[in-house]
Amino acid sequence: MAEIKKHQEEVNPDDPRDFIDVYLGEVEKKKEDPLAGFNVDTLLVCTLDLMEAGTESTTTTLRWAMVLMMNYPEIQAKVQAEIDAVIGQSRQPTLTDRPEMPYTDAVIHEVQRFGNIVPLGFPKMASKDTTLGGYFIPKGTVTTSNLASVLFDKNEWETPDVFNPGHFLDAEGRFQRRDAFLPFSAGKRACLGEHLAKMQLFLFFSAIMQRFTLTTLPGEMPSLVGVQGFTNAPEQFRVMAVPR
Ligand code: HEM
Repeated sequence: MAEIKKHQEEVNPDDPRDFIDVYLGEVEKKKEDPLAGFNVDTLLVCTLDLMEAGTESTTTTLRWAMVLMMNYPEIQAKVQAEIDAVIGQSRQPTLTDRPEMPYTDAVIHEVQRFGNIVPLGFPKMASKDTTLGGYFIPKGTVTTSNLASVLFDKNEWETPDVFNPGHFLDAEGRFQRRDAFLPFSAGKRACLGEHLAKMQLFLFFSAIMQRFTLTTLPGEMPSLVGVQGFTNAPEQFRVMAVPR
């Protein structure tokens, strides 16, 4: 809140410096229309969403990617070979590279499946009596979605408990979508940042793999068992990033 106050004092509508300045511009423009929903309270919640829902989730997934590449150096080498063939070393990865990089795309999807960072979705409360899948759910009942059960479903995945990018590749090595890939949940209240998160994961992961090989310190292989906090995250680990 203090940061928003500081922005309110300093903002120049003709030269917004960041998200908060742009939003304050909308608050000013829409002040005659309270139903538009632009006010300082919604700005605060949007900023919190960006920091909590938006930052913690993507960085935790990237930490899982690092842990998994250290555990599976042969998979890391295949990602790097694809990056070298499609992008090379002279420029940074861009989103237009992604369709040409099915193996890297499959690895990122498998990192998200295996990392399972939001095992139980976010709790919701039924706003009225309803029936779902034959079950009566009275108004006021708290429900949540068991995403982990889908991401590790033995009827959906060939090797549910093993990290296997092949889950997202067809016989010709092309990327294939899977219906049971639901790390962002499903339905009306699914993740609002899915598109942004996927872009960030591709750009950051491929840029790291392009520049570095990730290895362990002697005797310090990071665990593949997560620790449950706000997200299901890897244990703290140390990594040696060797420039390529
Ligand atoms: C790898 C990254 C991410 C994962 C795995 C993820 C996953 C999820 C999941 C599972 C939910 C709960 C859906 C439910 O309760 O059914 C959710 C909600 C949400 N996420 Fe994400 N998320 C990610 C990144 C982001 C980013 C980058 C943003 C925004 C910048 C974001 C914004 C939100 C918001 C606003 C909600 C609440 C949606 C609502 O209740 O209507 N997320 N996310």
